[in-house]
Amino acid sequence: MKYTSPPPSVFQAHREQFILKMQPGCAAVFFSNDLVVTNGDGHYPFIQESNLYYLTGIDQEDTILFLFHDSPRPQFREVLFIRRTNQEIKIWEGEKLTKEQASAISGIETVMYTDEFENFFLTQVYLIQGFYLYFNEHDRNRLFYPTASHRFAYKLQQQFPALKIERAAPILYALRMIKSEEEIEQIKRAISITAQAFERVAKFVKPGVYEYEIEAEIIHEFIRNRSRRPAYEPIVASGANACVLHYIANNKQCKEGDLVLLDFGAEYGNYASDLTRTIPVNGKFTPRQKEVYMAVCRVFEYAKSLLIPGNQLETYTQEVGAFMQEELKQLGLLTEKDIQNASPSSPAYKKYFPHGVSHHLGLVTHDNSLRFTPFAPGMVLTCEPGIYIPEEGIGIRLENDILITENGPQDLMEMIPMHWEAIENLMNT
Ligand code: GLY
Ligand code: MN
Ligand code: MN
Repeated sequence: MKYTSPPPSVFQAHREQFILKMQPGCAAVFFSNDLVVTNGDGHYPFIQESNLYYLTGIDQEDTILFLFHDSPRPQFREVLFIRRTNQEIKIWEGEKLTKEQASAISGIETVMYTDEFENFFLTQVYLIQGFYLYFNEHDRNRLFYPTASHRFAYKLQQQFPALKIERAAPILYALRMIKSEEEIEQIKRAISITAQAFERVAKFVKPGVYEYEIEAEIIHEFIRNRSRRPAYEPIVASGANACVLHYIANNKQCKEGDLVLLDFGAEYGNYASDLTRTIPVNGKFTPRQKEVYMAVCRVFEYAKSLLIPGNQLETYTQEVGAFMQEELKQLGLLTEKDIQNASPSSPAYKKYFPHGVSHHLGLVTHDNSLRFTPFAPGMVLTCEPGIYIPEEGIGIRLENDILITENGPQDLMEMIPMHWEAIENLMNT
């Protein structure tokens, strides 16, 4: 692996915490993600299923985790199944994990081959009341992709219709929202790579460069620092392109006098980072750009101050929206009448700030989480207000990753320049 794995105790602890929340007599089965065909004999890069990784640390295809704490046979309480390798795989793909390596990474003593799972399962199923399975549950996801878990559930229902299927997602999300020290270390490493990439592009950007050239600089810096990929597709949006929130075409030339919005983050060891900076293409903000920029900075600081234990995402978002509304008024973008005439479900600020303020960050960029759970120490959320004015060709977003602690918000990206003067200094020295 390009990255350094946390010790097995991290994954052991995750399994112990998960098992504590399971109903007695039940088992849980987790599957790795499929390799998915693109075209012909090509496939998408393999990215491990987040929960399987969270519980085992195994970053290889064809992996299954079986947990049955109440098994009468202690050696079968935790069983890891890994891909059986052979000479041909060795020639074409190289080394795969041995059982000893898989055991050392995960801390699981019983390791078998995936082709043995079916038989093993048939010897256990008669002892089990129900199965906890994970189906990708995310309140922003609109795509359905049938996973190995779906196939397993379908088979269970056909063959053993009296068995219950339980949702693993709520248990896992409650656990995954609170990051351990080792997980925070991985996020910090991802952030440090992202910070290096920002420094590189801040010095690279000048009138005439193409957005894709900036993207190439970012990716170059990621890969040479042991990130395997961006945590999400980088957004490099100059001028009015920045008003397209998920602009990823990255194919325009950066023009003198425009801003360029850079939203990118490296992954490291499966953990994401998520940064946004908006910088002047020529290294100097115009007075109007600076005015809007400083308004976004103030909203950022206000929002960050509310990332404390006990606050809750929905009310936090409303409070930040109200603060933003005042800033938009000062900028001459909204009037008191606009604000009064808007309905509570569609407040006036949405016209210039149409997205949320924060999302959880972890194994996924928009990390799986429980929306109504109050903020608590150990959570990592982004803080990302923005103002988008298409008619002025201005889109400004600022985004840092914040750790919630008992002593208040800890900005994990505070070393990355944000103040307009710091940005100008960085670009011009
Ligand atoms: N880059 C996606 C986001 O900031 O949420
Ligand atoms: Mn974000
Ligand atoms: Mn982002």
